This record gives sequence, structure tokens and C-alpha cells, in this order.
Amino acid sequence: MKTPAPLVPHPASRTRSHDSRFLKACRSEPVDATPIWLMRQAGRYMKDYRDLRARVPFLELCKNPALVSEITVTAAEKLGVDAAIIFADLLLIVEPLGLHLEYGKGDGPLITPAVRTPADVDRLLEVEPEQSLAYFYDAIRQTRTDLAARLPLIGFAGCPFTMASYLIEGGGSRNYRHTKALMYRNPGAWRELMERLARNLARYINAQIDAGVQAVQVFDTWVGCLGPADYRQYAQPYTHLMLEGVNSGTPIIHFGTGTATLLEAMRDAGGSVIGVDSHIELNEAWRRLGSGVGVQGNLDPIALYGDLDFLRMRAQRVLDQAGGRSGHIFNLGHGLLPDTPYENVLALVKIVHDVSSERFAKGK
Ligand code: CP3
Repeated sequence: MKTPAPLVPHPASRTRSHDSRFLKACRSEPVDATPIWLMRQAGRYMKDYRDLRARVPFLELCKNPALVSEITVTAAEKLGVDAAIIFADLLLIVEPLGLHLEYGKGDGPLITPAVRTPADVDRLLEVEPEQSLAYFYDAIRQTRTDLAARLPLIGFAGCPFTMASYLIEGGGSRNYRHTKALMYRNPGAWRELMERLARNLARYINAQIDAGVQAVQVFDTWVGCLGPADYRQYAQPYTHLMLEGVNSGTPIIHFGTGTATLLEAMRDAGGSVIGVDSHIELNEAWRRLGSGVGVQGNLDPIALYGDLDFLRMRAQRVLDQAGGRSGHIFNLGHGLLPDTPYENVLALVKIVHDVSSERFAKGK
């Protein structure tokens, strides 16, 4: 769909992390060891986080730049990963769109009122992110200051489809009934909603880059509920529009789950690296994506519940499938679960670094 622009770093991103393993891999350059970071690396599986959460509700944490920085930096440093991801949430942009957001106990996020009609779409507000989400950008600046200069900081956002699904369902969903009903029955309202989201999300991302993130991951977490034809018609044009609006020069990781049949179409929508989940073998995913793009993934998060021999075997399998190609970023197929054994997360980071550096040193 578009020829990727060369990755010349955004001026605000010229930190000492430019030559880090993670950013090199984002640019498909050779590395001394495979970089690894983990989705939800700052979260409930970590005691430090649970202790803090016992005192402060989740949304309040997100709105406190000092605590965001502490959570983000502590997780990255304790794990020894190759990048930090800003502690925040996909749904922070919901409030400035003019809706109410809360995180219920155990039932995930709740958004009210749900967006179900063309009139609901028209009521959504344009987001001026630097004003309405000042706390978020302050948190990025604070974290960038506190984080070791060699470590890249990753920003993130949802893709239009996944964001639309939250707004329309009013939260999580099993079958995306309301989302697909609006999409199929009311194409005009769907297009309007998706264009608005693409425009606002691009601004939300650009302001993160200006505040100091070195890479961005866009999450299309729930797009796997669409078949390939529906993806190309109803989701891909808007992800493409959003990514075209992002300032060039910053690597984009484009991630989704349940995307085994959508990978080529996701690649065509944009991103320098495609994030794949564990429902496809990594070598098969890479074969389908071709050599022009990096690949992130894709250990099953539940493999971390196995014993160390099993974990080592599974991590090695992912590295075997990556086959030493430039452009591989090790990650899970999806986020860490709240009761993942912490010691195994530490062990995984070490396994990936040790195994891959030994292989690269042997020139393999
Ligand atoms: O990866 C990281 O460490 C950065 C932080 C991060 C969070 N959410 C923190 C969080 C990131 C990148 C996200 C993205 C996000 N948020 C996604 C896409 C990620 C994916 O898995 O594909 C989605 C779908 C959301 C929306 C969301 N936020 C849900 C569905 C929930 C509740 C689910 C749950 O696990 O309870 C949240 C809350 C949330 N976001 C928590 C954290 C650490 C748990 C909040 C708590 O402490 O209670």
C-alpha cells in the first residue's frame, strides 16, 4: 500500500538509545542479541505493582506522572528487558472523546454511554491531546528523564477497529455483536467513526513522539474477529489512514491477536514490525509477511507457567524459527497474565539473551 519511508529518527528521539538492540531490530539491522520486552511487563504479576495498586486505583495511577515513571522504570530495570513501555492504557483517549471511563473490579473497563447510533458518533469530540491528556504527556517526559538513556521508551495506542469496538460495546466483548452490526448496517456512520478515530489517534501518537517515546506499538487486539475480506474493507483503510498520519521516522510495531489470516493485510496497512500472537508459528508468519518487515513475537504467555526446561525449549523454538534474521523482537504472543510466576519472567529474559547472543557470536 505504501513504500515505507526510511527510518530517520524524529529530532526528539535522538537519545542514546538510537543504537540499542531494540531500535536496531525495529530498523531490521543486525544485533548482538535478540531484543526482548514483554507486553504488560509492568503489571499485577509483579509484587511492586500489586503493592502500589493496593493503595491507588488504576486510573489514578495512570494520571500520576511520578508513579507512572516509577512503575515503568522499575519493571524494565528489574526484568533487564531491552525497552520500557509507558505505563498507561489504550482507553485513556476515551475521556477526551467525551465519554465516561471506569475500570470495574474484575470485569474490565466500562465506557458510558456506548456509541451505537450515527448521532452518538456525531457527539464525539475532537481530541486536543496535549491539553486534555496533559498528564499522559507529562508522564512520558518524566519517564524519559528517569529511564536510563540507553533504554528506548515505547509509546502505544489502539488501532481504529479495536478502539471502535470498545466505544460501541461499552467495554470488552465476546462476539462484537454491536460493533459488527453498526459496521454492516450503517456503513456511513462506521466510516465517520473510523475516520474520526484514525485522525484523533494519529494526533495522540504524534504527541507521544514529541514528548519523547522512541517507538510506538499500535494494538489491534480484537481485529481477529474479522475475516480477511471484512478486515480489508472495514478496518485496514483506517489503520492505514492513522499510520499515514504518524510522523515518519519513528518505528511502528503493528500488533494484533487472532490475525493468522490477516497478516499480509496488516502489513499492507503499515508498520515497520508486525506483532504476531501464538496461534501461528513464527516462521510461517514471517514467510507470509516477506522480508521487508520485522516480526515481533510470539511465545505463548502460558508457556511461562511451565517449568524452566519447558520454558527454555519453547523460547529456543521461537528463536530457531526466527533463524537469526535481522528484525526479530522477542515478545509474547499476548500480554503477561496477572498470576504469571515472576521468577520465570526473569528467566525468560536471560534465556533469550544468552541463547541468541551465543548464536550470533557463532555467526549463525
Ligand atoms: O504493557 C505494559 O506494561 C504497558 C501498560 C498497558 C496496560 N494496558 C496497562 C493495564 C498496555 C500497553 C495496555 C494496553 C491495553 N489496554 C490493551 C491492549 C493490550 C492487549 O493486551 O492487546 C487493551 C485491550 C486495554 C484495555 C484494558 N485495560 C483492559 C481490557 C483492562 C482490564 C483487563 C485486566 O487485565 O484487568 C485494562 C486494565 C489494565 N491496563 C491493567 C493494566 C496493568 C490492569 C489494571 C489493574 O491494575 O487492575
